[in-house]
Amino acid sequence: MKCLSLMPLLAAVIGIVSCNSQSEISYEIVPTPKTMTAGRGSFLINDNTLISLPDSALFNEAGFLSDYIAEETGKRLAVAVKPVSEKEISIDIDKKLPEEGYELTVGSDGVSIRGGSSAGVFYGAQTLRKCLASDPSLPAVKIEDEPAFGYRGAHFDVSRHFFTVDEVKTYIDMMALHNMNMLHWHLTEDQGWRVEIKKYPRLTEVGAWRKETIIGNSTDVPKRYDGKLHGGYYTQEQIRDIVSYAAKRHINVIPEIDLPGHMLAALASYPELGCTGGPYEVWTTWGVSDDVLCAGNPKIYEFLDNVFDEVLEMFPSEYIHIGGDECPKTKWQHCPKCQALISKLGLTDDGVHTKEQKLQSYVMKHVTEYLGERGRKVIGWDEILEGGVAPGAIVMSWRGEKGGIEAAKAGHDVIMTPKSCLYFDFYQGKDVSKEPLAIGGYTPVENVYMYNPVPAELNAEQARHILGVQANLWTEYVPDFRHAQYMVLPRWAALAENQWRDPAVKDYDKFLKAVVPLTGIYDKNGYNYAKHIFDVNASLSTDVELNAIVVTLRAAGDPEIRYTTDGSEPTLESAVYTSPLEIRQASDIRAVTFRNGEKGAEFEENISFNKATATKISLGVQPSDSYKYGGAIMLVDGLRGNTMFSSGRWLGFADGDGLDAVIDLGETVEISSAGASFCIVSHDGIFDAKDMTISVSDDGKEFRDIARADFQQVTEETAATKEHVLDFAPVKTRYVNVKASSEGDVPFWNWLAGSKAWLFVDEIIIR
Ligand code: ACM
Ligand code: ZN
Repeated sequence: MKCLSLMPLLAAVIGIVSCNSQSEISYEIVPTPKTMTAGRGSFLINDNTLISLPDSALFNEAGFLSDYIAEETGKRLAVAVKPVSEKEISIDIDKKLPEEGYELTVGSDGVSIRGGSSAGVFYGAQTLRKCLASDPSLPAVKIEDEPAFGYRGAHFDVSRHFFTVDEVKTYIDMMALHNMNMLHWHLTEDQGWRVEIKKYPRLTEVGAWRKETIIGNSTDVPKRYDGKLHGGYYTQEQIRDIVSYAAKRHINVIPEIDLPGHMLAALASYPELGCTGGPYEVWTTWGVSDDVLCAGNPKIYEFLDNVFDEVLEMFPSEYIHIGGDECPKTKWQHCPKCQALISKLGLTDDGVHTKEQKLQSYVMKHVTEYLGERGRKVIGWDEILEGGVAPGAIVMSWRGEKGGIEAAKAGHDVIMTPKSCLYFDFYQGKDVSKEPLAIGGYTPVENVYMYNPVPAELNAEQARHILGVQANLWTEYVPDFRHAQYMVLPRWAALAENQWRDPAVKDYDKFLKAVVPLTGIYDKNGYNYAKHIFDVNASLSTDVELNAIVVTLRAAGDPEIRYTTDGSEPTLESAVYTSPLEIRQASDIRAVTFRNGEKGAEFEENISFNKATATKISLGVQPSDSYKYGGAIMLVDGLRGNTMFSSGRWLGFADGDGLDAVIDLGETVEISSAGASFCIVSHDGIFDAKDMTISVSDDGKEFRDIARADFQQVTEETAATKEHVLDFAPVKTRYVNVKASSEGDVPFWNWLAGSKAWLFVDEIIIR
């Protein structure tokens, strides 16, 4: 080895060479260990190698280690309780290490894994498994490691589609491979109740079954159904079995009983729990049902207490998830029982929260206290902040980071799971015609990887309230388990980096290298996974100093990439990609990997160029947290969005906010038109701009209007993109202000009438 650094004395004695350069390390491991130091020599595992442990307390971990070594080497090693000697793989506990941390040393004499607890030993075993997958010759190394976050979650919705006990166990095995420790198990929904509750047998006799399921997207017209009964549930015995299976893998199972909304399956079973008394049926379509628990009926509190009594018996988890998301208040507004309770409690609209939102808080507080008295902590979706959050409740921030930030600032613990990059029911390929139907969105592996769970605006004290990170798998459009695996793998690999490693340190190229041996483990275990990382992965960035769009191309496994910029098909004769491309004119980039002459799936991106592209931009009004993505710069990045408004291409302005963008052209330039493009998806409350004003300035302070136009209102269901560019007499200027008003109130004919319109803007255009 070529390590030139001076050898510290102690390291020399134990045969470890400290090396500043990580290039000596041949291991590619996900999640990245905290430190890896190369040593001398290597360790050869043979059939006589023992796994030794000091006492039987670590038998469980030794068993897993034996399985993993068999998986990677084909050798089944014996496990023995005995004093450690040479040529062994020893595991032990060292209380001085962090609880979930471990030290893994590979030397020519043997392998040692010491963990701060049995969990630490387990993670050390996962890492040894990945060392073997990455370099089976097992070069000497010292790895010191511990997780960045204590909460490392994966969510699984088994209600929209039912998954068997064995499938849930495989999901748990997959989690263990990614060092995750919290399974958020979404067990109840409008479309199915999945947990046996002995006191309420109809919940599973009736509520676990729906007579059929909608085909295709739930917004398709006409609606079509498959006519097939769908359902299933877990008996209490099966649940205990799953909880114990997970615990052996150091995974805690958090049940979610989603209340007071998403309760239609329970209402179908016990109609007296709803405001109208029914009849109800288990839902056969997707969305958010208006029928929710009747908060004014004392019976629901008795029902919830009884259900949770049994849930607590099955689930030892300190955390219990009580939902709280998407609870429409329409039924409560018209229910005499709900309104009577609102009066009795003296709840009023206060301009911030409605009395019905406060009624939901009352329900959530009841459950929070009930569980608190029994030693449990509740987690709720970020809607629990509306109307006042119960003390001690943990907020799961899903509609963006805003809820999490607000909660952390108010001193509540938070779990980050923002929809924009941690909803793994979103598409992971840009060409949706090549993907299985998904709910929408676009969340490639890179977006997951680049996420940072600790928002910059939190100070150190507030940041401590971020307990961790989770990705969610909703299964409306995930009908079977191989599909579920495809949705989470390898996005979980990127998630694991955020959960386990310092999330602020990012190196996507390194990650793409490390994920390759991990996919080898997926293959050995028969896990189905998405292969997009092996094709061209492009990152486009807007460099306002260079006035260029910089295109970086890469693919896992570092194959040859060839590209063209004129829209012609890339072939073995095309340019070989060696370093980032700086694009300064309209280009159609096409690129493809060649592995042994074999083409991968093609990447294609059209970059449009106008005078505003890759210039400095600032916004007077900020986009909504949920649709801000990379921020203002996205309006000058040369990339155009289509009608998929959540694709990450559009900035979304909420609550009637409009666009107010100032472009600094860098120098005085003659221009004769300016505008922007807009996305209209009326079904989702996204409307066209109402009007636009263009003004110019030489100093960026004093602006004068040079063009203005009003636009026609959308009068029927529309999904379209629209470019509004206003022409004017040529003018020389440096700064251009593009302002566009939102529609304001959603028009009367739309189902969202009564709320404020969204304005979705993509590219600024100046010619
Ligand atoms: C959610 O996605 N409704 C939490
Ligand atoms: Zn009611």
